[in-house]
Amino acid sequence: MRECYGSVIASPILSILPYLCTCQPDRTTLLAEDFGNRVPALRAHKPCNCTMMTYMPSKVDSALLRKMETIKHLVGNTPLFPVTRIFNKKNVRIYAKMEWRQFGGSIKSRPAFNIIKQAILRGDLREGMTILDASSGNTGIAYAHICAALGLKLKLCLPEEATIERKRILTMFGVDLMYSPGKKTSKSQEIVKEIYAKNPEKYFYADQYSNKDNWVAHYMTAEEILQQTNQEVTHFCSSLGTTGTFVGTGRRLKEFDPNIQLVSLQPDSPDHKLEGWKHLATATVPSIYDPNLADSTRFVNTADAYDMITRFSKEEGLLISPSSAANMVGAIRLAEEIDQGVIVTVFTDNAAKYSAVIGGLAGI
Ligand SMILES: Cc1ncc(COP(=O)(O)O)c(C=O)c1O
Repeated sequence: MRECYGSVIASPILSILPYLCTCQPDRTTLLAEDFGNRVPALRAHKPCNCTMMTYMPSKVDSALLRKMETIKHLVGNTPLFPVTRIFNKKNVRIYAKMEWRQFGGSIKSRPAFNIIKQAILRGDLREGMTILDASSGNTGIAYAHICAALGLKLKLCLPEEATIERKRILTMFGVDLMYSPGKKTSKSQEIVKEIYAKNPEKYFYADQYSNKDNWVAHYMTAEEILQQTNQEVTHFCSSLGTTGTFVGTGRRLKEFDPNIQLVSLQPDSPDHKLEGWKHLATATVPSIYDPNLADSTRFVNTADAYDMITRFSKEEGLLISPSSAANMVGAIRLAEEIDQGVIVTVFTDNAAKYSAVIGGLAGI
């Protein structure tokens, strides 16, 4: 892939005029992200021989963009937790990124931030508009944090069976909430699409299940993993929900080293209780999913994940969510099968939003 560096010209008088290179649409986002760090600055343009450089559209709401810059440092850069007691094997290490340690409280802060930022950069999202999306909860909570900080309105559709904490948090943030029956986000997506079709100019429809800015956000997740493991990571394993985490992190890791093994994780039955996870054979497959990316797929049982929550709190000192625990089950199974390697997974969120599960496990 050609390396491409867009030039950024910022002027305090003329507002900000970044060039966006459109020859590599996926890289464009990273350029824009890159640009964010350097306002105001004049950066040399290292040409990519691309003839498709374009100015940022003039309809960009630069006030909103500046507000995004003020919270940017709160997204990403999560610590890597070393697993030492629950699994210990010579020459095999397991790490998990503590993704709740960011603005919005979960891994979904990354895509939420990037989706909103890129929409502003494209001129699709301006003050006065409402962000609209379907979410199993965590993306919605991340949007809610960012919308509050930016003074934007947010309308969300959640599955009725989302945890009570998610509903309470979103209500506290003043989100306009709707519920779809059951636990599947596909129903929520249908409702949201209808609302958008009736009033497209009022909303920015974030559409996290089809939006490339979701998975592109996880290029940074991969960069952090490479840096935090001194580029020694050999395996990445993670669940599939919108699939953004797996696709974005996986693509960047494969670009860095095609030998890095990507293991996708799914619930072992459609009737699971792993919030945020999709059982692809019976679910609506998100359009951003890349079926050719994973080297292998593993299936995790909800009861095993719940056991892991208990064990992990007692043996490692972190009270993690069912989704994080299921990722850990997958990582340990993988670790048991290899002789050497550095396995990285993600702790999508902690147990704070799962009082019903924790109450059941604690017996209180
Ligand atoms: C708790 C939890 N785990 C896993 C996922 C899946 O992540 P992704 O949507 O990036 O596939 C989500 C997504 O919302 C989630 O909320």
